[in-house]
Amino acid sequence: MSLHLLHQFPRLELLGAPTPLEHLPRLSDYLGRDIFIKRDDFTPVALGGNKLRKLEFLAADALREGADVLLTAGAIQSNHVRQTAAVAARLGLKCVALLENPIGTTAENYLHNGNRLLLDLMDVEVVMVDALHNPPAQLAEQAERLEAQGFRPYSVPVGGSNVLGALGYVECAQEIAHQSEGVVDFAAVVVASGSAGTHAGLAVGLEHLLPNTELVGVTVSRKAEAQLPIVERIRMPLAEQLELQAQAPVTLWDDYFAPRYGEPNDEGMEAVKLLARLEGIMLDPVYTGKAMAGLIDGISQNRFRRDGPLLFVHTGGSPALFAYHPSV
Ligand SMILES: Cc1ncc(COP(=O)(O)O)c(C=O)c1O
Repeated sequence: MSLHLLHQFPRLELLGAPTPLEHLPRLSDYLGRDIFIKRDDFTPVALGGNKLRKLEFLAADALREGADVLLTAGAIQSNHVRQTAAVAARLGLKCVALLENPIGTTAENYLHNGNRLLLDLMDVEVVMVDALHNPPAQLAEQAERLEAQGFRPYSVPVGGSNVLGALGYVECAQEIAHQSEGVVDFAAVVVASGSAGTHAGLAVGLEHLLPNTELVGVTVSRKAEAQLPIVERIRMPLAEQLELQAQAPVTLWDDYFAPRYGEPNDEGMEAVKLLARLEGIMLDPVYTGKAMAGLIDGISQNRFRRDGPLLFVHTGGSPALFAYHPSV
């Protein structure tokens, strides 16, 4: 069961070691089902999160192209932008970020605290836009501006989500398979599905390595019918590049993201508080709180295909807790 082609892609060693995979005894008692967690909130750059895995491949590509700027885009409170900026800092590159305010809030903490505060510490050049209505075109326009100034920018797509970035989550699937082998047989893995590189990478890796484990993507920004093509646009070519199958059905739960991307809801915030209270683990209001709300409701509604332990992939995001306090 090897993913030998994965190792043909140039990659920077930024992660250093596998992230921990832990049992959550008090949450398991509370929910009446064994829950484990993959601590990708623990990746070792600028307060952690899922983007570092993608950036191992994307930043390697940027260096191969001789780039001196990492250019990317996201919300003011984007975890992806924060981690891209941190990798740029580590590599001695400039970082330019196109930011939008997707919820139109004027709350001080949203505008200046949390992830946004960290961008200033890392000396990111911020370009505010009214909306990221067409990120590839908007990034291309900024790249032209930077080139005219003599820079060599590399555009990292929103969320780091393309085939190259998703390789990082094939690697994560491999870690999960190794860490659980002979220890625990997961009925399902639950992950937030946004720009979908994380979901698509796990889908390709887990279908190959743990074919009896269901993968559930809890959407954080859109209904399942809109999210499916976004997952597939990465999953299909990714599987092809690695000469693997992508035949498993894609499971998307879209009942937990309302009212919209970037706006917390009661169930998500209850999940944030529950993990904090029972396990001392910090989720976030935009991604992992809503994904955990899906896991909790999925248990009570019997939505998982089989019984047995569940694995929650903690993709990070806790710096946003400060941005959403007291509320947006
Ligand atoms: C904390 C957190 N979780 C989950 C995600 C979603 O990952 P993806 O965009 O790969 O779907 C993101 C993306 O920004 C994130 O910051």
